[in-house]
Parts: sequence; structure tokens; C-alpha cells
Amino acid sequence: MLKNDQLDQWDRENFFHPSTHLAQFARGEAPNRIITGGKGSHITDRDGNRLLDAFAGLYCVNVGYGRPEIAEAIADQARELAYYHAYVGHGTEASITLAKMVLDRAPDHMSKVYFGLSGSDANETNVKLIWYYNNILGRPEKKKIISRWRGYHGSGLMTGSLTGLDLFHKKFDLPLAQVLHTEAPYYYRREDTNMSEAEFVAHCVSELEAMIDREGADTIAAFIGEPALGTGGLVPPPAGYWEAIQAVLNKHDILLVADEVVTGFGRLGTMFGSEHYGLKPDLITIAKGLTSAYAPLSGSIVSDKMWKVLEQGTDENGPIGHGWTYSAHPIGAAAGVANLKLIDELNLIQNAGKVGAYLNKTMSEALADHPHVGEVRGEGLMCAVEFVKDRETRTFFDVADKIGPQVAAALAAEHVIARAMPQGDILGFAPPFCLTHQEVDEIVEKTVRAARSVLG
Ligand SMILES: Cc1ncc(COP(=O)(O)O)c(C=O)c1O
Repeated sequence: MLKNDQLDQWDRENFFHPSTHLAQFARGEAPNRIITGGKGSHITDRDGNRLLDAFAGLYCVNVGYGRPEIAEAIADQARELAYYHAYVGHGTEASITLAKMVLDRAPDHMSKVYFGLSGSDANETNVKLIWYYNNILGRPEKKKIISRWRGYHGSGLMTGSLTGLDLFHKKFDLPLAQVLHTEAPYYYRREDTNMSEAEFVAHCVSELEAMIDREGADTIAAFIGEPALGTGGLVPPPAGYWEAIQAVLNKHDILLVADEVVTGFGRLGTMFGSEHYGLKPDLITIAKGLTSAYAPLSGSIVSDKMWKVLEQGTDENGPIGHGWTYSAHPIGAAAGVANLKLIDELNLIQNAGKVGAYLNKTMSEALADHPHVGEVRGEGLMCAVEFVKDRETRTFFDVADKIGPQVAAALAAEHVIARAMPQGDILGFAPPFCLTHQEVDEIVEKTVRAARSVLG
């Protein structure tokens, strides 16, 4: 193993880290962590610490670290054929097999999958396909995309615009004009605390309808949403939300994009969040869990309805003018095939459902009486603890107090990694699917201790 005692200095001098306070990092005021290995639900760092990764990297290492089956599939593919492109009908055994495996798992009305590299680029693809679709149908004005505040859809120009979090817009001149944001289905943070959950759903629906009326349905192409909000706070939707929203979209001929980058391939204890909550999307975005992040690969799954129009478009205009050099990269595809096989063989989706239920239950019980825990919520193997200044009045802490990051740091000191979500004092858990009940107990016990150490 390379042991370079200048690594820390090189890191601060050369490496532009994403989502990092650049100035503090360069000055050495913010910590760095150099990761050297991983096995199961644990990672190890260069200082010899072994940490339980209760966020599976960025909720992506779903099968857990150190799986030789995937590593070997990648190595075999690299030796046999590291690269060939997918343009003008080219493919590899891995990419064609993976496309079939994805469609076998997707809802019945889905037709084809386009492979990209990241969740962001898959959503960029989706927006282009939506615009193309409406141009082919002779509706050039029907182009705006409705997203939700607190949605996360990537950090490109268009996808950063779709994302509904301040940090991703501020000083970047985003969102772009074609994007509109509507109410987040975040019941705990509803403005009017007297609203019942059903009233809140009706409120979300009427906000959406008002936006459509204001803008004109003939200008709105699509609505994008994560089945359960992820980076915006790990928030399962209130009961009846998706049914009611889809009724509005159908009425106005607005396409639905289910962004399943987090929820796809098992995070909620079911193959897709769409099946979990009864969504019938026109496009599904997949990434993270497709390869469990062993190699970069994403996808846009296209419905029959859209596919027919895309075919018509190429009959009228020639080949589709879209593609990346690395679309359907063979190494990513080989990782995807091995990953999906492993998920089936080890029943990991069932385990995610079972262990997730246990995590949510034990976390809720352990923090039920904590005066600064406003809500513990989750679904499947996703759990969030939201801290508040005053639980009775639901008063939130000042951002400057950095309560979420402080609790996450206290927990990391106990060798458990959770994520301080970027907006609000929310501690997020989304561990690998191979998590055990014992590991849940450790996470919960240490979270309670970390919360006490920061908040009393
Ligand atoms: C729901 C969702 N969509 C899209 C993305 C963007 O994916 P990537 O970071 O691979 O570009 C993410 C990333 O966390 C995500 O959570």
C-alpha cells in the first residue's frame, strides 16, 4: 500500500473537493479523511480507524463494500474489452444483458433504457427527451419542468436547477428559467401546523394546480420528483400524495419523471419506489444502486408511450442527437450485471426492508423522549432524525448553530458515519443493505449518545 506522508498536504494543495468549504479546507481548518478500504458496512481510513458507514457512501454502496463478485466482473471486463462505444447500434454483452435485467425489473409499461454515467447526466438526458418528445408532437411551447422545493436531481445546469435546495442555486445563477418549484411534500415542515396530513396533501395539490393555471398547462411538459425526498431531508410522502398529484398531471397531459437514483433497486425494501408508492412514470432515473457505485453508471428508463414518439422523431429527423462517449461503458455495465445478480442471490432487498423497519423502530423508540428531536421518520432502509430547538412549538435551530453537523461529527468520533443533510438539522441514515440487527443497535446507541453530547 502506498504510504505517502505528503498526502495530506497534496490533498489541500491540489484537490478540488465537491460540496466542501473550499477556503477552510485549503487553510487546514476543515478535516479531511483519506479512505483506504471497505468491507461489508464498514470503511477504514488511513489512520487505521474502522467506521460503520451508515450512509453507504452517498447512499449508493447498496450491496456493501468489498464484494469480490463485482470486483472480478470489472477486472474480467477490463481485460477482455475495457471500452467500446454504444453509438450507431454498438453494444457489448454486458450492456445488452444489463439493459434486459433493468427492464425485467422495471414497471411493465417501461420500454427501453439509455445508459449514462451519473444521476445528474441521466436527468439531463430526461429533460432533453421530454423537450424532443413535445417538439415531435408539435407542441413547442410545452417545455417547462416542475420540480419540488427540497428535491435533489443533480448539480448540472439543468439538474442543479431542478434541485430545490438553496445551496445549489446561490451564486450560480440558477435555477434556469424553464424550471418551476412547487411545495415539498414535507408534512413535518408544513407552514400551518394545524393541518392534518390529508389537508396538507390537498394543499400540495392546490399549489400545483395554481401553478399550472398561472403558467398555462400548454407550457408545462413534465413534473419530476423522488418517490421519497432524499437529500432534501429523507422524507417519505404523506399518504395519498402521489395518487393525488398524478391525477393532476394526467388531467393536464404533463409527463412524470420518477427520480429513483436513491430509491431504485431496493432502498425502500421494494425494487422501485414507483411500485412502493403507486407511481406510473414516463421516465425513471436510475444510478447509484444500479452498480452499487462499484463503477459509475446511470440510466433513463423510457416508457412505451414516450418511446413510440422517439421512434417517430428519428423517422422524421434522423438518428437521435444525444450520447456520451462513455454511454453504457462496458466496465460500468459489467459491474451492474454482477451487482443486480448479487442483490437477487443474497435477497438484499428483503433484508433492506426488514433491517430498515428495525432501524426506524429502534431509532424512534430510543429518541422518543429527547426534547430536541422533533421527528424520526423513514421508509425501508432510510431513516432521518430531525433536531429542533423546541419540540412543542416546533421552533428550528438557527443554521449558524450547525446542530446537524455537530451531531454528525460527534457520531463520527464514535466511528459511525451518518450524513448531516444540507438543509435543516437533519441526520440521515441510509446504510448498505447487508446491515445486520447488531449494527443497527450500535448505530442507534451511538446516535443517542452523540445527540446527548451536543444537545444534552
Ligand atoms: C435523487 C437523486 N437524483 C440525482 C442525483 C444526482 O446523481 P449524481 O450525483 O450521480 O449526479 C442524486 C444524487 O444524490 C440523487 O439523490
